[in-house]
Amino acid sequence: MDTLLTFWIPLLFSSLALGGYLEHDQDVLIPHDWTHVGRVDPTEELELTFALKQHNGDMLEEILRRVSDPDSAFYGKHLTLEEVSFIVRPTELTQKVVDRWLQSHGITNCLTVHTRDFLQCTMTAKVAETLLPGSKFHRYIRDGHTFVRSSAPYSVHDDVHQHLDFVGGLHRLPPKGQDLFKTLSNRKQKQVKRGVHLGVTPSILRARYNLTATDVGTAQNNSQAVAQFLEQYYSPADLAEFMGIYGRSFKHLSQVDRVVGTQGAGKAGIEASLDVEYIMSTGANISTWVFTNPGRHESQEPFLQWMVLLSNMSDLPWVHTISYGDDEDSLSTAYMMRINTEFMKAGVRGISLLFASGDSGAGCKHFGKDQNSFRPSFPASSPYVTTVGGTSFKNPFKVTFEVTDYISGGGFSNVFKMPDYQASAVDGYLKTVAATLPPKTYYNTSGRAYPDMAALSDNYWVVINRVPVPWVSGTSASTPVVGGILSLINDQRLLKGLPALGFLNPRLYKLKGQALFDVTEGCHLACLDEQVQGKGFCAAPSWDPVTGWGTPNYPELLAALLAE
Ligand SMILES: *[C@@H]1O[C@H](CO)[C@@H](O)[C@H](O)[C@H]1NC(C)=O
Ligand SMILES: *[C@@H]1O[C@H](CO)[C@@H](O)[C@H](O)[C@H]1NC(C)=O
Ligand SMILES: *[C@@H]1O[C@H](CO)[C@@H](O)[C@H](O)[C@H]1NC(C)=O
Ligand SMILES: *[C@@H]1O[C@H](CO)[C@@H](O)[C@H](O)[C@H]1NC(C)=O
Ligand SMILES: *[C@@H]1O[C@H](CO)[C@@H](O)[C@H](O)[C@H]1NC(C)=O
Repeated sequence: MDTLLTFWIPLLFSSLALGGYLEHDQDVLIPHDWTHVGRVDPTEELELTFALKQHNGDMLEEILRRVSDPDSAFYGKHLTLEEVSFIVRPTELTQKVVDRWLQSHGITNCLTVHTRDFLQCTMTAKVAETLLPGSKFHRYIRDGHTFVRSSAPYSVHDDVHQHLDFVGGLHRLPPKGQDLFKTLSNRKQKQVKRGVHLGVTPSILRARYNLTATDVGTAQNNSQAVAQFLEQYYSPADLAEFMGIYGRSFKHLSQVDRVVGTQGAGKAGIEASLDVEYIMSTGANISTWVFTNPGRHESQEPFLQWMVLLSNMSDLPWVHTISYGDDEDSLSTAYMMRINTEFMKAGVRGISLLFASGDSGAGCKHFGKDQNSFRPSFPASSPYVTTVGGTSFKNPFKVTFEVTDYISGGGFSNVFKMPDYQASAVDGYLKTVAATLPPKTYYNTSGRAYPDMAALSDNYWVVINRVPVPWVSGTSASTPVVGGILSLINDQRLLKGLPALGFLNPRLYKLKGQALFDVTEGCHLACLDEQVQGKGFCAAPSWDPVTGWGTPNYPELLAALLAE
């Protein structure tokens, strides 16, 4: 019912309105966990983000292919932000038309970015509603955080329609955190019954992934980052305490070098602490940045804000890990396509973006009585990021081999076509397991398949509010672990005068699993219906849509990725 409504309403209106809808398939329903506070006063100021149509999208994609393919003569020939800007910058016409449109509504308070493809403008709610016919701004609250969003789809004037990809700040609300606490308590009960428990700590990870005490960063100019959008703050005191307890066996840093955004005085979040504590444990002694909600305002889309920031900073860490995701079907295609281009912009600069694959396995979407399908997650499903799934130890009392963590997100995109770099790997999987695949109506094998690799995601120890807490789980744990390991490899590359790894997937898939511990056991969760009975895809030899190619064996992966 919900989907039907969101599908038809915009369609109905677009034939009536003067302008057109940029995001006709955007879900505009406010999720149930948000409470309506009231209509926004017409005089209140809002800040909206305008995504201007870029230039040369095909060229950008081709450049990314060449600089990321180890067999290309252009491998590693990354571009600067200036060069990226030269390629993608919107045409003079586009810039002029959009400027004139905004000015004709009295909107002059705008900031642009280096690449000129985003404008962030301040205006009153009244002006915004006239500028974007259809929009109606309301205030919503969840867990004490308020956001301003439009309850109805917006349109733009015909003259600017072809010059914009979308307008940010009207619809997308931050998804609920990855429910770490829920996973936490469920598993806790299970584990307590078994009596004993071996938690994952930095030394366990370093042992499993074959990192010696001397495998730490030494290059002057290396750095890594975590990005957080969940209204949480990492706590410097927790990080120091964590390193004091768990960092005795390897040289490490105990402080974040740079916080981009506002590090509030609020309570430290478990998710925020997890990311920082673990990227700094595998990527030990490497300068670490934290991107956090920058001076948040109520019409902000925090994830979009981070993307805008990347287009405006010429000096960025080489590796970014992001534990953030939303259902593909809740986002407009125009938005996802544009964000995907933003990932390409980062990739051509030599930046590696790692996203958590999600904690709901294949996911589940209900669209009728007994009619379900799997539910892919974005940005995990983007072909231009490296997506990280989760595993657990086969024997929880020992550092043994890994099996699927049943929460590990994975599957096939319904939006992005399968990229060439993975076609044969995925084809191999589909043939190997053909007899046991879930029914074909649940997913579309012509889409981008994920994750690309994995790491342990179960039973972590985290220090939170000065106290070590066990049983923390989720792919938001495995992602920074892999991020830190890639940073160590970048470190060795930089020392040799080689370029950073950048967008890893084309090279990763050419290794065909070499240098990774293949995960071949276990299935992840999915719809609880008669057809699939809670089971999505299953791990298998070689690549699979549950754990990708497997988990890193550092010395071998270093050797494989240290060649030119
Ligand atoms: C981008 O950076 C420039 C210069 O540092 C600054 O003037 C501008 O306001 C920034 N843009 C945004 C959207 O913050
Ligand atoms: C890495 O770890 C595995 C499993 O723990 C072990 O069998 C192997 O010998 C280690 N060393 C290398 C260089 O792979
Ligand atoms: C830690 O990194 C710095 C460079 O940032 C380097 O000078 C130092 O030697 C490294 N420490 C160790 C133990 O490798
Ligand atoms: C670090 O790299 C940036 C470019 O990414 C460069 O501008 C800067 O000078 C470098 N710093 C050092 C200390 O080499
Ligand atoms: C699968 O996706 C492709 C486009 O990626 C589309 O053309 C095709 O119709 C889809 N198939 C099904 C069964 O949904």
